[in-house]
Amino acid sequence: MQPFVDFRNVWLAYNDELLAQSHYAVEDISLQVQQGEFIAIVGPSGCGKSTFMKLTTGLKMPSKGSIHVGGQPVTGPLKISGMAFQAPSLLPWRTTLDNVLLPLEIVEPYRSQFRSRRAEFADKARRLLDSVGLAGYADKYPWQLSGGMQQRASICRALVHEPKMLLLDEPFGALDAFTREELWCTLRDLQAAQKFNVILVTHDLRESVFLADTVYVMSKSPGRIVVKRQIELPQPRDLELTYTPAFTDIVHELRGHIGAFRKTAGQAGAAATSGTNATSGTGGNNGTSGTSGTSGTSDTGVPR
Ligand SMILES: Nc1ncnc2c1ncn2[C@@H]1O[C@H](COP(=O)(O)OP(=O)(O)OP(=O)(O)O)[C@@H](O)[C@H]1O
Ligand SMILES: [Mg+2]
Repeated sequence: MQPFVDFRNVWLAYNDELLAQSHYAVEDISLQVQQGEFIAIVGPSGCGKSTFMKLTTGLKMPSKGSIHVGGQPVTGPLKISGMAFQAPSLLPWRTTLDNVLLPLEIVEPYRSQFRSRRAEFADKARRLLDSVGLAGYADKYPWQLSGGMQQRASICRALVHEPKMLLLDEPFGALDAFTREELWCTLRDLQAAQKFNVILVTHDLRESVFLADTVYVMSKSPGRIVVKRQIELPQPRDLELTYTPAFTDIVHELRGHIGAFRKTAGQAGAAATSGTNATSGTGGNNGTSGTSGTSGTSDTGVPR
């Protein structure tokens, strides 16, 4: 079957000057996301995760290589995706319901039908809010909601126009561990019901293993995909699974890849700066503690 998202040898330099210096934010990215697949991208800060999202949605065009989504070459911003970010960014002067309705006021074909079909659209938005546990909050303003509730509403807003693809850039990063885990389950259930593709960017390895079919690890400088890990754990997954050895082994394995890579990068950096001692500069908790610090609910897995 044709992949839904298809990156072939994609490189991006943010501007001509950087291109002239061969300074790429991401290098030689090749990956395929199958229809309905849930992928997670993990990696240290600045490695190019958000850049990958911009390329997927057509907000940036590659300097080299090709990107196809839904079988079509990406030539500009895509309408078939919904996005949610770390900050819920709801409009404070609109009720929760009106925030969720926003994409339908903007995106065609809904836009031109919005006035005539408003009641129908509002019903749909309310059902979506109900499904994520926000029944009764539709008519409240965002500032009357907790952070977790706001993030739920922002996911509803990203899904209301039934996108084929949901892009989530650190959507749960600002939430406490318990709320975050609740929202993992919300997202799991929405995706199981609606079968949209998900591309999730996260620093949290447990989150990636719990939710994704496939986890990609990116390295920093250059921003490349260094590991592809299929998560064969049975689905649907529930939170108990996160305490099993099968689960924590995968988290440890991924943490090991990142630790190993950071150690190598640190060594290269130290060698470059000191010219003498290649093992200095890898200290702290970066390179040497490949399998530690991945248990418990407060750990985010990937150091910033
Ligand atoms: N508009 C821009 N112009 C020039 N360089 C940029 C621009 N946006 C990002 N970059 C650079 O591209 C690289 C990747 O940035 P990106 O935002 O994709 O990282 P990230 O993995 O999402 O980081 P974080 O985890 O901190 O969000 C970084 O070196 C960054 O400085
Ligand atoms: Mg980012």
